[in-house]
Amino acid sequence: MSILGDAAAAVKGAAQGVMAKAIEVAPESWLPGGKPDPLIREQHGAIGKPVSRVDGPLKVRGEARFAAEFAPDGLSYAALVFSTVPKGRVASLELVAAQSAPGVILVMSHENAPRMAPMPRFMSANKAAGGDDLPVMQDDRVHWNGQPIALVLADSQEQADHAASLIVATYETEEAVTSLADAEARGTEPGEFQGEPLKLSKGDAEQALAEAAFKVDEHYSTPRHNHNPIEPHAVTVAWDGDSLRVHDATQAVTHTAWSLANVFGIDEEQVRVTSPYVGGGFGSKTLWQHQILASAAAKLAHRPVRLALSREGVYRTVGGRSPTEQRVAIGADADGKFTAILHTGSTLMSPHSALPEPFIVATRSLYAAQSFFLDTEVARMDMLANTFMRAPGEAVGTVALECAIDELADKMGMDPIELRRRNEPDSDPQGGTPFSMRNLPEAYRVGAERFGWSDRPVPGTRREGEWLIGMGCATSTYPYNRMPGGAARITLSRDGARVEIAAHEMGMGTATAHAMVAADRLGLDVEQVKLDYGDSAMPGVVLAGGSQQTASIGAAVMAAQQALFADLLKLAGNDSPLAGLGADEVEGADAGMRSIAEPDRFESYASILSRAQRDEVVADGEGPPPLESQKWSMHSYGAMFCEVKVNSVTGETRVSRFLASMDCGRILNAKTAASQFRGGVIMGLGLALMEETQFDERNGRIMNPSLAEYHLPVHLDVPPIEVIWLDIPDPHAPMGAHGVGEIGITGTGAAVANAIYNATGKRVRDLPITLDKLL
Ligand code: MOS
Repeated sequence: MSILGDAAAAVKGAAQGVMAKAIEVAPESWLPGGKPDPLIREQHGAIGKPVSRVDGPLKVRGEARFAAEFAPDGLSYAALVFSTVPKGRVASLELVAAQSAPGVILVMSHENAPRMAPMPRFMSANKAAGGDDLPVMQDDRVHWNGQPIALVLADSQEQADHAASLIVATYETEEAVTSLADAEARGTEPGEFQGEPLKLSKGDAEQALAEAAFKVDEHYSTPRHNHNPIEPHAVTVAWDGDSLRVHDATQAVTHTAWSLANVFGIDEEQVRVTSPYVGGGFGSKTLWQHQILASAAAKLAHRPVRLALSREGVYRTVGGRSPTEQRVAIGADADGKFTAILHTGSTLMSPHSALPEPFIVATRSLYAAQSFFLDTEVARMDMLANTFMRAPGEAVGTVALECAIDELADKMGMDPIELRRRNEPDSDPQGGTPFSMRNLPEAYRVGAERFGWSDRPVPGTRREGEWLIGMGCATSTYPYNRMPGGAARITLSRDGARVEIAAHEMGMGTATAHAMVAADRLGLDVEQVKLDYGDSAMPGVVLAGGSQQTASIGAAVMAAQQALFADLLKLAGNDSPLAGLGADEVEGADAGMRSIAEPDRFESYASILSRAQRDEVVADGEGPPPLESQKWSMHSYGAMFCEVKVNSVTGETRVSRFLASMDCGRILNAKTAASQFRGGVIMGLGLALMEETQFDERNGRIMNPSLAEYHLPVHLDVPPIEVIWLDIPDPHAPMGAHGVGEIGITGTGAAVANAIYNATGKRVRDLPITLDKLL
């Protein structure tokens, strides 16, 4: 999910004094002309090594407890009943059979649910976490097909599920907008994202296109997608008086706590949300109705409640990615220099959702062009609120843009990598802001050589028996983000350090990477650092989204480490070899501090603590506001290479090889980063070839709410994916590192589509590229 809205608002809204203070505390390296942090110039400590997950053994042994695995005394189990109409009101609810079924504790509906405020909708406030801002069981209104209309609480899950099946609802339906054509006929509006309109123009792009020596002008479409984390959404809640304890599976503990407090009209401090392990989030693990309904039912029943959504429940109540209809037109002069880039089209939102799938965002900064016209128009539909899904915008936007580039290169008879190279911008094409880091041509050079790009066949000419073989490439890109509000606490004792930060581990490797970062900054071994996270009671307001958690945590840990060093130097006093040095003149090494200028001046933490007769020192630090993103155009890049085999008889596509050559700054952990890239690519293969939510336009109902009917890549669908990276640090980012969570899905869809064209000579511009479209 994106957080720049927060960042932009925070920076814009900040008073002068605050800004001055922010500049004071921001590391110089993050500001123009500043000198780079000496710690990011080279690799040291465990940074960059393939360190195995610190949470791995717990997960393998089944000891990592997920949200639906807590069993407080008196636990009860909830099941939901979903509306079967898209709009109207519940006319009657037949509850008696359910109420008298075995084990049933209560049935909750709008008739008896406690009074609650709507969820604060994501991005409407700093800590808002809600997927929408609709009332939750406060009246008889139905807003989408699948909305929860009743909840059954019972002594076992089976009893709850059975009783829920006995509930009969009747409806008074109202006319609903459930088809794309209908929605668009009612008019569209330009989308707004992160406080800025998703519509911009530079020069007269249509005119330049008309006059261009070479041009492409095509339409591309991507379907609706649903979230399928391996762990379906779940929550275990218990009230203690007016205090609410929540074991959640979330990528935003602090946001969830604040938002739940708002819903129930209690103080933020009265809600504690923990979420130490999450089985995948991808943008979907925020606040949806199930956490609220579970908490409401727990309140009514005076019992702890577990609400684990079924897979169908996730489809009914947790939003996904909206479909897009995109036009990309590119004009080029005789040398292939772009004279115009147009990227326009439409997407869908519900009347209460937070995100217009911003498919034009990558196009703003990827290529130089004399003129631009970019526009994401939004139509409204009566449906479950759409939401963030891994690289919202870029994932589907790069499909259209990067296929169009390939099509133009083909028309010009030019290698598509060469066409891209000729349109490398020197600075951000929209405002001229310098790039903090951009090594995309080098990523292509290294990747092309490794992949054997020079062997790419003429389209439709390479064959092995029934199989046509082809290669394609595409650019991958995702912005560098950092969120304001990052904070960390370090407790240093004789045998190591404990770092606390309200951060998240959804399987990405955060806990491992940041134990490594803290160890590196403190001069400790990774085993000597304990990273505690996933608890709203801990410092910081950092969500896991927008691929920004790494930078935000890193900045917070650096600030806490500076505060800790200042305290330690004070404690060390005049008898220390470090006497007279400031916190920025020392670095962590060998379980102590040493002078950066004179490395022989050293004192161990143990020695400082002993002399001061202290067992531990605790320091808090806050990451400075993300000013670097105001000063630099900051992005990550990758060159994606794909080889496919397409069966000439059946139309079946098999991806046979994939290479991702990444430019994402310093890589902190070679093992977990490779897994992140690879996971993104796999999701991109699903986007290209399989994933599609079947949506019944007559009644707004999702027709394939199960993993049997919604196709995702499984092991047999996924070829060896090779991942390499340049490892060139970004001098303007904490640790020199960029996030690696989302970028892998970008560019991948286009690389597959371009490879399919190369194999078959057929362009398919409508995803997923299923076999019927190739026959
Ligand atoms: Mo994400 S879609 O930033 O979790």
